Amino acid sequence: MENTPISRELIDKTIQDFHIADFSKATIREVKAIAAKAEKESGIEFIKMEMGVPGLPPSVVGVKAEIEALQNGIASLYPDINGIPELKEEASQFIKAFINVDLNPEGCVPVTGSMQGTFASFLTCSQCDEKKDTILFIDPGFPVQKQQLVVMGQKYETFDVYQFRGDKLKDKLESYLQKGNISAIIYSNPNNPSWICFNDIELQIIGELATKYDVIVLEDLAYFAMDFRRDLSTPYQPPYQPSVAHYTNNYVLLISGSKAFSYAGQRIGVTCISNKLYHRNYPGFNKRYGGGTFGTVFIHRVLYALSSGTSHSAQYAMAAMLKAANKGEYNFLNEVKVYGERASKLKEIFIRHGFYLVYDKDLDNPVADGFYFTIGYPDMDSGKLAQELMYYGVSAISLTTTGSEQQGLRACTSFIQDHQYQQLDERMALFAKNNPIG
Ligand SMILES: Cc1ncc(COP(=O)(O)O)c(C=O)c1O
Repeated sequence: MENTPISRELIDKTIQDFHIADFSKATIREVKAIAAKAEKESGIEFIKMEMGVPGLPPSVVGVKAEIEALQNGIASLYPDINGIPELKEEASQFIKAFINVDLNPEGCVPVTGSMQGTFASFLTCSQCDEKKDTILFIDPGFPVQKQQLVVMGQKYETFDVYQFRGDKLKDKLESYLQKGNISAIIYSNPNNPSWICFNDIELQIIGELATKYDVIVLEDLAYFAMDFRRDLSTPYQPPYQPSVAHYTNNYVLLISGSKAFSYAGQRIGVTCISNKLYHRNYPGFNKRYGGGTFGTVFIHRVLYALSSGTSHSAQYAMAAMLKAANKGEYNFLNEVKVYGERASKLKEIFIRHGFYLVYDKDLDNPVADGFYFTIGYPDMDSGKLAQELMYYGVSAISLTTTGSEQQGLRACTSFIQDHQYQQLDERMALFAKNNPIG
């Protein structure tokens, strides 16, 4: 066996120092810290694919609007807890322009990133009806959302959708919903980590079952319209970003500034509550607050208690970005499609050296090239593969941490630099030589 670019001893010792008994369970932050330490000690550059952080400059439209707002003095004022009217209006228009759904400005509520949007949604959904005390994840998913539920002491259930695509989703989903304990269903679309995208058949199943069992769908659109197989970038024209909003009234859409607009640092997103849900009263609210509707409890009780609103200037940035996108003056997807180009090159290199894509298809179509992809290697489980790749200076997270039952890793394209394709090619050639298949 030829020597690996980073010594095995260095990686093994660093992992030991972190007291990680099973590397398949290492968190993103742990993998990042181990890679950083090994990089520093070995002097060899890592190809970092563990973090899902935007790797592009922020939207210029947003930065300009935010600076202007600050210069106009808004920093001294508490923002309206409901959100500034400009942002509410543009978010409503954005949903019309890019999803083709009517949602009133009233229900479009700024949050300090979708992270806060899901936290507040989980809380509100859990308070509707005391019999419904559990959130259902259609996994794989974003690990921090489960951590949010652990932090708030709420229960969750989960299943890996890998075996349940298309019509098969119906029975599987119904087997959970018919128990009567589920308050909300959450998934991301496009999906972190697998980049699968639910199609309209699947969204219709989710929507119709949500209505039948009276549960709320939390549709996490953190990677809004970033399914680059189709051009979803023209406002008010098909094709649109697919959404469960066409199939039920019980929904909340979580739109984030972080990835589509490369605006993660300012912590801004918009949580969009359907018109019907906004005005719906639940018995749990009467008991806890003496009344209220989903919309008013979400804003005036939960968000108020969490952060008293969302940074004023960031709201101006988000309003300007959405407005420019709605008017067709700013094609936000053009700025981020480089992620898809990177994914295509990286996948080709991995596959040429014996790897395979774990989540490879949306029914009959290959998954899109985007922000993430998933890889496996024959006869290696998630933990072993993640650790082995560290010896070659490649860091990625195990699918185990995402609620997936498949063996493999999530790779993120956001930090890849142009000179690293060649590096990856050489390192994976050596990896394949040292780990012959079959
Ligand atoms: C699926 C998903 N949801 C939500 C988020 C968080 O978004 P925000 O930065 O708006 O809090 C991320 C970020 O990685 C994500 O991948």
